[in-house]
Amino acid sequence: MSHDHVISAKSLSRADIETVLDRAAEIDRTPPDRDRHADDLLALCFFEPSTRTHMSFETAIKRLGGDALDMGPVESSSATKGESLADTVRVVEGYADALVLRHPSEGAAQMASEFVDIPLINAGDGAGQHPTQTLLDLYTMREAAGSLSDLTVGIMGDLKYGRTVHSLAYALTKFDARQHFVSPESLSLPRSVRYDLHESGARLKEHTDLDAVIEELDVLYVTRIQRERFPDENEYRQIAGEYRIDAATLEDAREECVVMHPLPRVDEIAPDVDATQHAHYFEQAHNAVPVRMALLDLLLAEDDR
Ligand code: NCD
Repeated sequence: MSHDHVISAKSLSRADIETVLDRAAEIDRTPPDRDRHADDLLALCFFEPSTRTHMSFETAIKRLGGDALDMGPVESSSATKGESLADTVRVVEGYADALVLRHPSEGAAQMASEFVDIPLINAGDGAGQHPTQTLLDLYTMREAAGSLSDLTVGIMGDLKYGRTVHSLAYALTKFDARQHFVSPESLSLPRSVRYDLHESGARLKEHTDLDAVIEELDVLYVTRIQRERFPDENEYRQIAGEYRIDAATLEDAREECVVMHPLPRVDEIAPDVDATQHAHYFEQAHNAVPVRMALLDLLLAEDDR
């Protein structure tokens, strides 16, 4: 890895990504020695709810032989006393060998990383980035489709506030994928992300209707409408439920089309999709463990040198 901190998919090169995915595949085939990182402690600082990301990072460090130090719920942390994030991470740096941060403010991980020397991993900063989700998304796509080259990917739902979308779009651009973004106009890609994608030569099209592209897709990546980031509850209610797929929607899809979702899902994917050959979202969630193990293994090994 050429970066100690993992903040944005924008700064992960194709080679960095391939290194992590190859290591994850190795780990999947042959689990590493249980004492490989026996002396390593991973701090988990989550200022926003999480099930998968939190638990899979904890599983990953434990399966590498290390341990997790959990800050615990934000209500019982010193943040409630008014401590700044910069001070919190400077303190935690003295306890742990690497730090995973989730925070509701976009840019929080970048800012915090400027205060610490241990590797800091962004596990989601508001509507910003979620680069490790992208690594496991790409791993899932590579396992299902055989390769990351020549993919046609549809990304549907909350493209405005969905940080998994922003990270994934940057990474897919590095693999020269064709990207179709499907959303209501009010939830289309933020201007800054669209600009970055165009600047880096992305092959992208934007649509308001899935029907226009479903037949072409190798992957359909569905996302949740991010209720917690909507400034206006009424606007949320109007839109939620509009971009929903079920087994009937997928009748027009290619047989090999892989349906993914970072989870949690609310209503975006009907339960009748779960039993189809398209459903890959639970496998995707499970891939979080080997992929986060691979990333931690690489970051912590570098740190030991
Ligand atoms: C996502 C997140 O937190 O950004 N979940 C995850 O990490 N698997 C997506 C979401 O919350 O909708």
